[in-house]
Parts: sequence; C-alpha cells; structure tokens
Amino acid sequence: SLDGLKAAASKAPIVPVLVVPDVAAAAPLANALVEGGLTTAEVTLRTPSGLKVIEEMKKACPELIVGAGTVLTGEDVRNSLAAGADFLVSPGMSPRLLDALGDHKDVTIPGVATASEAMTRYEEGFGMLKLFPAAIAGGVAALKALSGPLPHLQFMPTGGVSADNAGEYLALPNVVAVGGSWIATEKDVSSGAWADVTSKAKTALSKI
Ligand code: 3PG
Repeated sequence: SLDGLKAAASKAPIVPVLVVPDVAAAAPLANALVEGGLTTAEVTLRTPSGLKVIEEMKKACPELIVGAGTVLTGEDVRNSLAAGADFLVSPGMSPRLLDALGDHKDVTIPGVATASEAMTRYEEGFGMLKLFPAAIAGGVAALKALSGPLPHLQFMPTGGVSADNAGEYLALPNVVAVGGSWIATEKDVSSGAWADVTSKAKTALSKI
C-alpha cells in the first residue's frame, strides 16, 4: 500500500524527483536528502542506472521511502519492485501498463490531467493520483476545483512545483505531497552539490 509514503509525507510532504545517471551518487544523495529533513524520494527510470540507484539509496538510508518514477511498461513495474521500490509513479496510463500493474495498483501513483482521467483511475483502484504536468493541468486552481465534486481523490501534483508555490499546493485538503526536481537537479547530482541539496530541502520544508 501507499501507507509508508503517506506516513513519510505527513512528516515532510515534498518528494524530490531525481535523475541519477551515476550509481555512485546514490548514497551521498540519499544522505543529503535525509540531512535536509526529507523522508521520500522518487528516482526516475530515465537513466539505465535508475534501478540500481533505488537499491543503493535504500541501502544507504533504509528509513527513506524510495519510489520509482517514469514507470511506463510492465518491465519497469517488475524491475522497480525487484529493486525494492516502495512506490511507483507514471506520467499517465496506458492499457498495457494498466494490465501490467495487476495487483500493484495500490502502490502506484498514475499521472492524470483531467477529471475524467482521475475518475477512471479511481474506478480502476488507484487511491493517489499525480496531477501532471501540474502547472499546465491547471495547478492549484484545478486541484481546488476537483476537490468539490471529487473530494475522495488524493493528489501528488508534480511538474512546475517550486519552493515558492509548494505551500499553496500543500494547503489544499486533497494534496498529500508535491513532487519536484528543484531540490536536487540533474546539475546538483552530476556536480555532487550535496550541501546545496540539503539546504534546498530545508528551505522548502521551512516555507510550507
Ligand atoms: C518530471 O517528470 O520531471 C517531474 O514532473 C518534475 O517536474 P519539474 O521539473 O517541473 O519539477
């Protein structure tokens, strides 16, 4: 289930979305995030190293809830779970991915951009949804509007979330957490700017 993620998000509701090409960065990155007060991370499968990075981050920081992002195929689902991912995130849904998710819908946060998509995912058994790309799909105003007719849906908006607007999203009753790449950018990761990552995490948490 997503209970681990929800418990972690109740302490620190910002999920850094990570692109980590170099497995050696996994441990110092995990430590930098935890040092900054974060409790969760999403490692995208946009690099072939993603799966190994999930393993290494969990090894370095067993208390960190680590999910796999950019899960697009059945192979991604199987590999992510085998690597120890605590949750799965996809930018949207496809018939084949839905099939492959089978019994794992309860650990998956699929991307949606409209009320119809949200209703469909809920009917299929997904409890938490990622509004994506959040800023383009209407941002805070869209989530506010959706909470009227669909108050039972919970969201993790991602895409265009920043330190400046994370608080506005998190003030909404239907937002459990926000995701974003700004805490640890590809540049931060490739240059090993761990102190900056920690400081951005602390700043973001202090503003919400
Ligand atoms: C992504 O898929 O890269 C995430 O949505 C992050 O979006 P952001 O770079 O706008 O935070």
